[in-house]
Amino acid sequence: MARNPQLNKNGELIHLLSIEGLPKAVLDHILDTASTFVSVSDRDVKKVPLLRGKSVFNLFFENSTRTRTTFEIAAKRLSADVLNLDIARSSTAKGETLLDTVANLSAMHADMFVVRHSESGAPYLIAQHCAPHVHVVNAGDGRHSHPTQGLLDAYTIRHFKGNFANLTVAIVGDVLHSRVARSNIHALTTLGCAEVRVVGPRTLVPSDMAAMGVRVCHDLKEGISGADVVMTLRLQNERMSGALLPSSQEFAKSFGLTNERLQWAKPDAIVMHPGPVNRGVEIDSAVLDGPRSVVLNQVTFGIAVRMAVMSIVAGHSA
Ligand code: CP
Repeated sequence: MARNPQLNKNGELIHLLSIEGLPKAVLDHILDTASTFVSVSDRDVKKVPLLRGKSVFNLFFENSTRTRTTFEIAAKRLSADVLNLDIARSSTAKGETLLDTVANLSAMHADMFVVRHSESGAPYLIAQHCAPHVHVVNAGDGRHSHPTQGLLDAYTIRHFKGNFANLTVAIVGDVLHSRVARSNIHALTTLGCAEVRVVGPRTLVPSDMAAMGVRVCHDLKEGISGADVVMTLRLQNERMSGALLPSSQEFAKSFGLTNERLQWAKPDAIVMHPGPVNRGVEIDSAVLDGPRSVVLNQVTFGIAVRMAVMSIVAGHSA
């Protein structure tokens, strides 16, 4: 069987490209390592020296607020030198290929690439063509994967709810276009979550979901009833081709999370969203800004989780 390209021959993580296929022990190690980094943000000097002397290149070919910024903060807290390539002003705009761009940045002694790209598989391609000492971390590729989001979501759930074995997590909304949903499903099923549900209209739930070990619901009440965690997803209008939905308003009528509907979940259920949010579409402002929302905690934990991922991959050689 072919080796997972993210792992070296000792089973150690050298790239983070997808959560799919990673053993539970690797995910537990990332979450446990992240918990040791949370307190770094509370110190006067918010730094540890683990990546001192290393150069981390952020290559964001798609827009981002949370992921790009928290990767930069995380790398700086690990004492790395961080370069954010301004893609719009780079020679990508003149037609330079992805691999030529990476080869030229590698010639500047890059040690790690953090990559967001609209094409699924772009981080894999880079990892295949990098020198053995260079590490690649996927910051979201097409509809495929957003592994650090899946990990920071798992971290947030573990922080607020403890053991995954007793938990029901409902992922609600535009699952079809969501790399976050896929990464969460792989993370939560690997970590032993009791039940993962995906909830949405038939047109926005892909057909391979049941095969991924999740329960599929096309009714919001059924989907979130008794859930410990309700994770809402953004309606990704920019990735939709054709009429998958009558309108955002129609979607909100059937699947938008309101405080009234949240009562179908457990009384202590938490509400999550990876951001950015369409307020009033997949989630009401009263829920997003309310006491059950842990959306901003997700963002904060993203720093520690990304510190953990970068320090772990940098600590292993191919
Ligand atoms: N959750 C997430 O990926 O947000 P950004 O697109 O702002 O990075």
